[in-house]
Amino acid sequence: MIEDVMPTASFVTKLNEQIGNEYAAHQQYVAIAVHYDAETLPQLARFFYRQALEERDHAMMMVQYLVDADERAVVPGVAAPRVDFVDIVSPVALALAQEKRVSKQINALAGLARQEGDYSSEQFMQWFIKEQIEEVATMADLLRVVERSQDHAMDIEDYLAREQLGEVGEDPTAPHPAGAGAADG
Ligand SMILES: [Fe+2]
Ligand SMILES: [Fe+2]
Repeated sequence: MIEDVMPTASFVTKLNEQIGNEYAAHQQYVAIAVHYDAETLPQLARFFYRQALEERDHAMMMVQYLVDADERAVVPGVAAPRVDFVDIVSPVALALAQEKRVSKQINALAGLARQEGDYSSEQFMQWFIKEQIEEVATMADLLRVVERSQDHAMDIEDYLAREQLGEVGEDPTAPHPAGAGAADG
């Protein structure tokens, strides 16, 4: 008997749900970026536009994994993001809560893969576990900065311009996002 090393049906279902969660995170970060852009806070806007692109990449890495495993990847619709922000702090607090929630979802996916003896999927999830630790830490740092300087928005902008918070170089260990490079011609 050939041992079945493919992802199980329940992992495929859960990973497809996570693709939806990553796209929802993408939409939420775009909404936050647009909010800050409209408030003429370009560094905060830039930070969240970039975070949004990272979320899209996460979704497309998961799509690529399912395609490579010959499983069905479902491109989801997502719930509308929150767009009603009353101050400079609340979008960042929302973002931190979102990152913490995603960390739980990612850990649950890794746990499911392990429980089912699906070591390829468990290993695939390892990169996301590391990524979530970084994203929670980055968002917690930003929340501290915006809380401390909420009455001095330009101090926050200066901080972001200076510190390059959340900017990471090329990560050769990152999974390949589906369609990456398609815009290059
Ligand atoms: Fe993500
Ligand atoms: Fe994230």
